[in-house]
Amino acid sequence: MSIVTIAREGNIAVVTIDNAPVNALSQAVRQGLSDAVAELDRDPDVSAVVLTCAGRTFIAGADVSEFDKPPQPPHLPDVVSAIELAAKPWVAAIHGSALGGGFEVALGCRFRLASAEAMVGLPEVTLGIVPGAGGTVRSVRLAGVEAAVDLVTTGKPVRAARALELGLVDKIVEGDLRAAAIAFAGVGFSNPLPQPLSLRPAPLAPESFWTEAEAAIAKRARGEVAPLKALACLRRATETDFSTAMQFERATFLELRVTRQAAALRHVFFAERAAPRPKALTGVQACPLRNAAVIGGGTMGAGIAAALRDAGLPVILIERDEAAVQRGIANLRDIFAGAVKRGRLTEAAAEARLAGVVGATDYAALADTDLVIEAVFEELSVKRQVFAQLGRVCRPDAVLATNTSYLDPRAIAEGLPNPERFIGLHFFSPANIMKLLEIVPVPQTADATLATGFALGRMLGKVPVRAGICEGFIGNRILKRYRAEAEALVRQGVAIAAVDVAMRGYGFAMGPFEAQDLGGLDIAFLQREGARAAGQDVPETLGDILVRAGRKGQKTAGGWYDYKAGDRRPLASKEVTRLLAAQIQHGPILDGEAIADRLVGAMAREGEAILAEGIAEKASDIDLVEIHGYGFPRWRGGPMFATRQTSA
Ligand code: 3HC
Repeated sequence: MSIVTIAREGNIAVVTIDNAPVNALSQAVRQGLSDAVAELDRDPDVSAVVLTCAGRTFIAGADVSEFDKPPQPPHLPDVVSAIELAAKPWVAAIHGSALGGGFEVALGCRFRLASAEAMVGLPEVTLGIVPGAGGTVRSVRLAGVEAAVDLVTTGKPVRAARALELGLVDKIVEGDLRAAAIAFAGVGFSNPLPQPLSLRPAPLAPESFWTEAEAAIAKRARGEVAPLKALACLRRATETDFSTAMQFERATFLELRVTRQAAALRHVFFAERAAPRPKALTGVQACPLRNAAVIGGGTMGAGIAAALRDAGLPVILIERDEAAVQRGIANLRDIFAGAVKRGRLTEAAAEARLAGVVGATDYAALADTDLVIEAVFEELSVKRQVFAQLGRVCRPDAVLATNTSYLDPRAIAEGLPNPERFIGLHFFSPANIMKLLEIVPVPQTADATLATGFALGRMLGKVPVRAGICEGFIGNRILKRYRAEAEALVRQGVAIAAVDVAMRGYGFAMGPFEAQDLGGLDIAFLQREGARAAGQDVPETLGDILVRAGRKGQKTAGGWYDYKAGDRRPLASKEVTRLLAAQIQHGPILDGEAIADRLVGAMAREGEAILAEGIAEKASDIDLVEIHGYGFPRWRGGPMFATRQTSA
């Protein structure tokens, strides 16, 4: 069957693209559209054309899987131009998402109708490129400079209602979109027809607008090139004629398509899509999740409860006593209030989220709970007590999960009846925001339980990654290696601030020492002390020296740096220099790139060991862990991608 088909409804032609899963603009689709324009232009019985898509969405964009090959004709800008200049006016009927090249095709149509749930956008910068078929040149003519800059340089899609406000779509349709588009095309359009966007004048913006936008984007981009290039295309779109601007945009698109940043972002794009549905679990039925419970209402427990509520699950929050229950509920209230303040939730939605949480002290409340996530104090005996109680009260098929970050889940599960329903679900703080979810099965974990972990990840909008059992699983094990390497650099004479500056220069929001000061040095210190007390040989770290001197980070007004009261800016510390003096040698001076290479190289070597031991299934999973749990710059593709590319 053909991918692009034409049907007639009276004198309206309906062109349908059917290219599952997301109607991406493969060469065959581009050819089909091009042929359709020619055929319908020749047909005297056709007065207008409706463009629609089969399946779950309108066109999701260019076919990203073709980006590693040279572009094949017909090229998208020519297809869009043919639609725009066709003798018969085309009407785009948008359901699902019209993204990237998909929205560019819609911009070539004279009218854009959207169903109420539709989204439109130009997300190319998230793939390290810019729109390549007139997205910048036409959107600026349609919606004005400010809206176009926002749309193109952030890459964030907008919902239909907002798109209507911005003028990106002409009409929102409730109900049958295809029928509505045919009716719209059939009653004739306003006379005269709106001009094709290519013939409309471009708006201008003052020099100050561009300078400010450039400064703001450069700050946000932290080394990522596409957003600034997109801004340059938009500027060109306002300052030159249509065809010069189109050539500039296309050249920029083709130049960026072959960059390492674009390859890295494509790698992450495909890795993120593969992660939630592991091939090994194909056909395995997950357990239904109608409700959930969290044990422990501290920062982590409350964050997990908030994530569950965001996904619409009713939640029971269990704590030791009534006062602790109230503290847990207060933590949740704070989380939702924060979301209201940032404009993510309305007051009413926040109230509804909170109303869906029931606090309890008696485990008997969990008799009919489908999923219980334990997030109590990180101590084996405490966790075992929790699971002993869960084993007594929960249904034998309820999934029981621990959120431990360092303990061995096998030890936590010991003695649990029906251990096949036990699993580790390692969330990252704040659990309602951070995308990473490490899923850690024990040997007894049933496939259905594992599949439930992944189903939960999808439900919560997380990036779930399977991890094997070792100290720190994937993420914290690499973090430990990363920090050790950062300390090794300091021991050989590299300044603490130079390490942090280098890693910010690499694209992290914070360097390793600043991050420890923010989170507190004492947690890792206590872990090392625990291991030492248990007889393990754990060498003294520089961090240990600081904690022993009372420097636990920002909360004690000093860690690796000093801080002034009420000010989070790190200041070089004479006391730290004095405390560490005996440990520091004077080695060669390293520049920022050499420092970043050392640290990323150390992460990747640990990653290779993790792979070799089977703790992670694939290198791309390790990259996802670092990007979504530890702030590794997405546009570098993760430590495995970054170093494998360098050494290839
Ligand atoms: N090209 C190739 N494959 C794509 C694709 C694309 N543009 N978009 C999605 N897919 C694939 C995914 O890899 C996945 O494949 P799999 O089933 O084998 O894993 C499948 O389609 C389904 O994708 P999702 O799991 O993401 O499906 P959802 O329903 O959750 O989301 C979507 C649908 C919102 C359309 C989402 O897929 C998406 O955001 N896609 C990317 C959109 C995009 O970035 N478009 C711009 C492309 S660049 C461009 O157009 C350049 C132009 O200017 C010239």
